[in-house]
Amino acid sequence: MERYFKNKVVFITGSSKGIGKATALLLGSYGAKVCINGRNVESLEETYGELRQKGVDCLKLPGDVSDSRQCREMIDKIIHEYGRLDVLVNNAGIGSHGRFSDLTIEAWDRIVGINLMGPVYMSSYALPHLIRTKGSIVLISTLAAKMGIPGHMTYSVSKMGLTAMAQAMQIELKDAGLHTGIVYVGFTENEENKQILYPDGTYKKIPVRKQKKARREDVARAIAKVIYRKKKSITLSTVGKLQVIAIRFLPFMIKMILRKANRDYDTMYS
Ligand SMILES: NC(=O)c1ccc[n+]([C@@H]2O[C@H](COP(=O)([O-])OP(=O)(O)OC[C@H]3O[C@@H](n4cnc5c(N)ncnc54)[C@H](OP(=O)(O)O)[C@@H]3O)[C@@H](O)[C@H]2O)c1
Repeated sequence: MERYFKNKVVFITGSSKGIGKATALLLGSYGAKVCINGRNVESLEETYGELRQKGVDCLKLPGDVSDSRQCREMIDKIIHEYGRLDVLVNNAGIGSHGRFSDLTIEAWDRIVGINLMGPVYMSSYALPHLIRTKGSIVLISTLAAKMGIPGHMTYSVSKMGLTAMAQAMQIELKDAGLHTGIVYVGFTENEENKQILYPDGTYKKIPVRKQKKARREDVARAIAKVIYRKKKSITLSTVGKLQVIAIRFLPFMIKMILRKANRDYDTMYS
C-alpha cells in the first residue's frame, strides 16, 4: 500500500483537524504529495507545519467547501502546483442536531452546503483531472446515513445524499476508469475543539466524547485501504456492521432503536 501512494497527489478536504488530518499524516508518511484544507487559517498552518516537519510535500488550501467558487480555485491551485490530481477525499463535514420543528432554514442551508454540496462541487471540478489519472474519489459518510436519525435529521439527510452520489458515480464513471468509494464511519474520537451545528444554524463546541470510539488513525488506515483496493463501500466499527445486518434482517429492531434515539434526544439536548 505504501508504494501505491508514493508521489500520488492527494487532496483531503477538512484536513486541518480530526480524521482528515490523520489521513493527511498517514498518506504523507507513505510519500504522497498531500493537499490540505480547512477554513481556519491558524489550524491549517499548524497542520501544514507538522506535515512539513515530517518531510511531507504539502500544499495548504484555505477555503470553504460550501462555496463553489472557492472549490474551483482550490482544484486550480493543485493543478497549477503539481500538474495532476490522483485522489480526492471529500472529508470536510459537520455534525448537527435538531428536531424538524426547531430547525431553521439557515441550519439546513449550512449543513447541506457543507456535507453534500461541498463534495458535489469539489468532485465536479476535480473530475476531468481524476479521469486523466484514473484516480479515486472518496466520500466520507457516517452510520447516521443508513437511517434517518430522529433529532439529527439534517446530518442524516446530507450524508444520505452521498450514498446516492457514490452509487450513481460507480456506474456512470466505471468505463472512464475512475474509482468512487464511500466510507461509513462510526463513532470516532473527537478533537477538543470539535464544533457541531445547532438547530438555529450556529456552531457550538462539543465536549470530548467519553463513549467507546474508534481511533482517528484507524479510520485513516481504512480510508487508505478503500483507495488502494478500489473498494466501493465500507462500513466501519462493530456497531456499524451490526447495523447493516439489522437493517436487512431485523427492521423491527431498527424501529425500536430509532424510537429510543428520539427519547434520548430530549434528555441530551433539552
Ligand atoms: N468523528 C466522528 O465520530 C465521525 C463519525 C462519522 C462520520 N464522521 C465524518 O468524518 C468527517 C470528519 O469528521 P471529524 O470528526 O474528523 O471532524 P472535525 O474534527 O470537526 O474536523 C472537521 C474538519 O473539516 C474542516 N471543515 C469543516 N467545515 C468545513 C468547510 N465548510 N470547508 C472546509 N473545511 C471544513 C474543519 O476545519 P475548519 O473548521 O477550520 O474549517 C476540520 O479540518 C466528517 O465528514 C464527519 O461527518 C465523523
